[in-house]
Amino acid sequence: MLVSARDMLEKAREGKYAVGQFNINNLEWTKSILLTAEELKSPVILGVSEGAGKYMTGYKTVVGMVNGMLEELKITVPVALHLDHGSYDGCLKCIEAGFSSVMFDGSHYPIEENVAKTTELVAICKDKGLSLEAEVGSIGGEEDGVVGAGECADPDECKAIADLGIDFLAAGIGNIHGKYPENWAGLSFETLAAVKEKVGDMPLVLHGGTGIPADMIKKAISLGVAKINVNTECQLAFAEATRKYIEAGKDQQGKGFDPRKLLAPGAEAIKATVKEKMELFGSVGKA
Ligand code: 13P
Repeated sequence: MLVSARDMLEKAREGKYAVGQFNINNLEWTKSILLTAEELKSPVILGVSEGAGKYMTGYKTVVGMVNGMLEELKITVPVALHLDHGSYDGCLKCIEAGFSSVMFDGSHYPIEENVAKTTELVAICKDKGLSLEAEVGSIGGEEDGVVGAGECADPDECKAIADLGIDFLAAGIGNIHGKYPENWAGLSFETLAAVKEKVGDMPLVLHGGTGIPADMIKKAISLGVAKINVNTECQLAFAEATRKYIEAGKDQQGKGFDPRKLLAPGAEAIKATVKEKMELFGSVGKA
């Protein structure tokens, strides 16, 4: 059964480790992440962007697929199904469809509007037992066509949003989605410490987990980060493994590629990436 991400992230913050949010795009992706979490006895969060939700034909399909897998793969570790960077309407649709957690990304609204919309969602999520993530300070890079510059969040705005009763907070600290450029200045631990000071025990979320050096990840966890999002690294691993398989020409004597065999190396590559991240984040054995 899907669970809210609230308890797993409170435990992670207390235990000084982070739970990975791995974004899913299809059946193979989802299966690889769930099997790895079960094998490593790690809690896990499956992230779904609005674009990926649409691609998978809608949120109800995603919920049906994930719930089916939890049962048929006999998954026992805590799993949350979480809308990533949701709009207000997207959050309502996912709540209705059976997600166990949503992120409302109001970072592009003026703070007053972010507060108003977040307040409404806090009430709905509390009523239905879902966890809610909010964002302050936009995360840079491109996601689903939305490009942000990687600002650092204002700690007072973080407190204003945290005090509304959300469960965890994504604060921009110079992190960006996708690959980091050569001249990237690194994470702003000063901002992270200032945010932590204001929001106290609220678990913090680090987006843009792809390509952040291990020492920065560990320092971020020591300063209150309890959830780390990874997407691009799984995509790169999947694409590279698939490309190699095709280049090796493993079709069936001119009959073409068996789709299950074609997708298998990519699925294995995702498992390896997820395992490496769970080990780095310290969530192995914590389920
Ligand atoms: P990356 O694609 O950089 O790993 O970021 C993922 C993310 O933050 C999803 O919200």
